[in-house]
Amino acid sequence: MVHNMTNDIASVLLTREELDSICKRLGAQISKDFENSENLVLLCILKGSTPFFADLVREITVPCEFEFMRVSSYSGTESTRALKIRLDMDRDDISKCDIVVVEDIIDSGNTLSCLKAHLMDKGAKSVKLCALLDKPDRREVDLTTDYTGAIIPDEFVVGYGLDYNEKYRSLPYVGVLKREVYEK
Ligand code: IMP
Ligand code: MG
Repeated sequence: MVHNMTNDIASVLLTREELDSICKRLGAQISKDFENSENLVLLCILKGSTPFFADLVREITVPCEFEFMRVSSYSGTESTRALKIRLDMDRDDISKCDIVVVEDIIDSGNTLSCLKAHLMDKGAKSVKLCALLDKPDRREVDLTTDYTGAIIPDEFVVGYGLDYNEKYRSLPYVGVLKREVYEK
């Protein structure tokens, strides 16, 4: 029998229409803030950000370039926290780049805070953070985003790029995953 993904969703948190309006709002904000930038680089964090990235970039009206990275953070103590770079971007003009990191969700904040430090260390001209979703209740490090789609409660969500064990990314909305799916 074909597995119906929708049966695993407890409730829809953000509909397709709501996601559209988030992309429009953030796209307009980014376009305004970077109207004078010489070198705007939108950095898509694989894999979860891909649907959001694709929708967001089409709302950006100023010239920009695309880059892609795949990263994860090692969990550990504060002092051992480190960034694991699975796919890096390769450019030698980073000192001229205004980078906007496009991420799916901020949870503990470890990944993005490590990534921001890494990009600044590499000499980026500026680094701003754009996240579709933010779960502030779960924050372990002091990190604020520059562009936020929606603040959400501490629930495990999937869809619109977000996964549970690599599944559910293709759902066109963001939904809360039923607990029984990951607690069995
Ligand atoms: P952080 O470093 O704890 O902020 O982790 C962020 C990463 O955790 C995201 O890029 C997601 O891959 C994953 N993540 C956190 N919360 C969720 C969720 O509710 N659904 C799916 N993935 C999540
Ligand atoms: Mg993930």
